[in-house]
Amino acid sequence: MESTRSGIEKVGVLGIGLMGGGIAQVAATRGFDTVVIDVTAVILEKGMERIRGSLQRLVESHQKSSGKTGVPPEEKENIMRRLRASTERRDLLDRDILIEAIVENEPVKIEAISALTQMGYRGLFVSNTSSISITRLAGATPCPEKFMGMHFMNPVPVQPGCEVIRGFLTSEETWERVTAFCRELGKEPIFAEDKAGFGINRMFIPFLVEAVKVVEEGVMSCEDADKTTLCLGHRMGPITTLDYVGLDTTLAIAEVLERDLGPSYRAPDLLVKLVAAGFYGVKNNRGFYLWDKGKKTSVNPAVERYRRK
Ligand SMILES: NC(=O)c1ccc[n+]([C@@H]2O[C@H](COP(=O)([O-])OP(=O)(O)OC[C@H]3O[C@@H](n4cnc5c(N)ncnc54)[C@H](O)[C@@H]3O)[C@@H](O)[C@H]2O)c1
Repeated sequence: MESTRSGIEKVGVLGIGLMGGGIAQVAATRGFDTVVIDVTAVILEKGMERIRGSLQRLVESHQKSSGKTGVPPEEKENIMRRLRASTERRDLLDRDILIEAIVENEPVKIEAISALTQMGYRGLFVSNTSSISITRLAGATPCPEKFMGMHFMNPVPVQPGCEVIRGFLTSEETWERVTAFCRELGKEPIFAEDKAGFGINRMFIPFLVEAVKVVEEGVMSCEDADKTTLCLGHRMGPITTLDYVGLDTTLAIAEVLERDLGPSYRAPDLLVKLVAAGFYGVKNNRGFYLWDKGKKTSVNPAVERYRRK
């Protein structure tokens, strides 16, 4: 069966953080002319540096696997040439699709989405939100029929799936074009409807949050909680996963789940306190573990101190 084409050529990404950087990298790798914006030139430079590093690792993987995986060395510069970074929202106005990947904060997302449509943007618009209602975000635009969710998985260049979420007013045409675009990015679409946490985070965030409670209550150390998933075939345990996802992002998702689905989804005090104290995970080298150049050095002493015996 011949699959539908999205007709998309120019991609815009809002935010060059963990997710936006990965999404921009994948779009450029798949041949799309890509612009990524963020709030300052310094953040953009750091984000572009992370993308160069990620591509370099893919080039090395290509060499080690004799071309079976990764990116051929000659492709790396072509990919970087298809990728442009900017602090200017107006550089997104000629795009066929915008992918919003900024902080998990509803008012901040609504401001950015609404500002772009007020500036005249009328193309497809998707949000990479982990939990916020697609229908509410779509309400920030005059054309909710062109809005839906694309929830990529972390790390984007490696993960094979992407949840695609239909808002209440998403049109059939938008749904089909975004699903086709998802496949063009090399990602398997996983279909979900618009309810807090969609499918994946509705199941996954309570698992991470429960692991924090296990540590908080002194049932297990961080390291032992991490070893438990080896028995499930997951090499990365829940506490390390939390450090990669970002403690701030996980807390924001848990708060949406609690608000929309009830108090049993409330985040534990230890997670709330760590975020309040500025422990965000790998992104700032301080989470449940302390990190140096992408490697764990020890359990965060603040977590050790908190554990109730
Ligand atoms: N971390 C994960 O594992 C994960 C997985 C799937 C989806 N998500 C979702 O992706 C989104 C981004 O998460 P992240 O982990 O990349 O966060 P992050 O903190 O790494 O990056 C967020 C980026 O957004 C930028 N930003 C903030 N306000 C902006 C604005 N008004 N305009 C442009 N840029 C702005 C920040 O400067 C930062 O670079 C969130 O909605 C999150 O829920 C995260």
